Amino acid sequence: MSAPAARPDGSKVVLCPACGTVSKDLGPGPGGRPSALCRHCGSLERHRFLALAAAAFRAAAGPGLLLDVAPSRQLSSLLRTVANGAYVAIDFDPAADGRLVDVQASLTDIPLPDRSVAMIVCSHVLEHVPDDRRAMHEMARVLVPDGLLLVLIPWRAGPTDEDPSATESERLRRFGQADHVRYYGDDFEDRLRDAGLEPTVMQPHQVIAPDVLEVTGIAPDEKLWLCRRSGSQILDMGTLAETVGRQATSQLVEALRQVVAREPEPEPPREPGPAPTPESTAHSMYRRLRRTRLGRQSAALLRPLRRGR
Ligand SMILES: C[S@@+](CC[C@H](N)C(=O)[O-])C[C@H]1O[C@@H](n2cnc3c(N)ncnc32)[C@H](O)[C@@H]1O
Ligand SMILES: [Zn+2]
Repeated sequence: MSAPAARPDGSKVVLCPACGTVSKDLGPGPGGRPSALCRHCGSLERHRFLALAAAAFRAAAGPGLLLDVAPSRQLSSLLRTVANGAYVAIDFDPAADGRLVDVQASLTDIPLPDRSVAMIVCSHVLEHVPDDRRAMHEMARVLVPDGLLLVLIPWRAGPTDEDPSATESERLRRFGQADHVRYYGDDFEDRLRDAGLEPTVMQPHQVIAPDVLEVTGIAPDEKLWLCRRSGSQILDMGTLAETVGRQATSQLVEALRQVVAREPEPEPPREPGPAPTPESTAHSMYRRLRRTRLGRQSAALLRPLRRGR
């Protein structure tokens, strides 16, 4: 888990990439997990990671329909934007958490044709689904050959713990929530492969600069499974990782700029001089950002602006 960045005075501050607001800290998440929840939009670590990385994943998935399973309110409008309108959200219980669902449907019976979806976001759903193997098959069925499925689940090392006969209180104790039907472990990737998917794990610390993780409160080790249909072109993880990292940094710099724009500092009186060039504008932006609290904490992020690069 990533603690919010420390201010020079020892207190904390965080910039949430899901809603663009700055907070002094993050609130407790599910189960009382500390430093997890954006107090403005309710985003958790995974939502903030996806908010920074979604555009890069979309580029890797290619154009075409984006299927958002159990859309989270913190991310669905951003995903709609990166999908350029080609977006559909499903949940079998649209009332759950006030989700904005386009079609009421189960992941085990997706009402879409074979090979019709370029990108699927399936975050913290499979642990709720009794027939998860069927849900995985369905996602493999609707994906286009070089499309991309993003899966997040609660995961721990060791065997998967699963018991359809477990009572609610037992589920809470063994699986962490009363509406979870299992706790996934080491065989998770085998289940994906059995369903015709080829998974690769990505963790935020492998792709996103430590500065960015710290300022955004993203858990460095949370696993994200990127899957293609078996038989597709192998995902170029080197290029994808590089793109995610670069876009995450530039998105955060842009968010910092917006923070500065919302709370402008008085500009020092300007000497008459030569017209600003892109380089001098970037350099003065760098100086302005450095004067903000977040800017001071994110010096490494802002380095490319220093000399107007
Ligand atoms: C923990 S929420 C996930 C929310 C969101 N994706 C996120 O990452 O925050 C789980 C959601 O999965 C939905 N769900 C459970 N089983 C499903 C199924 N078979 N088909 C579609 N949605 C399902 C539930 O209705 C609930 O909205
Ligand atoms: Zn937020």
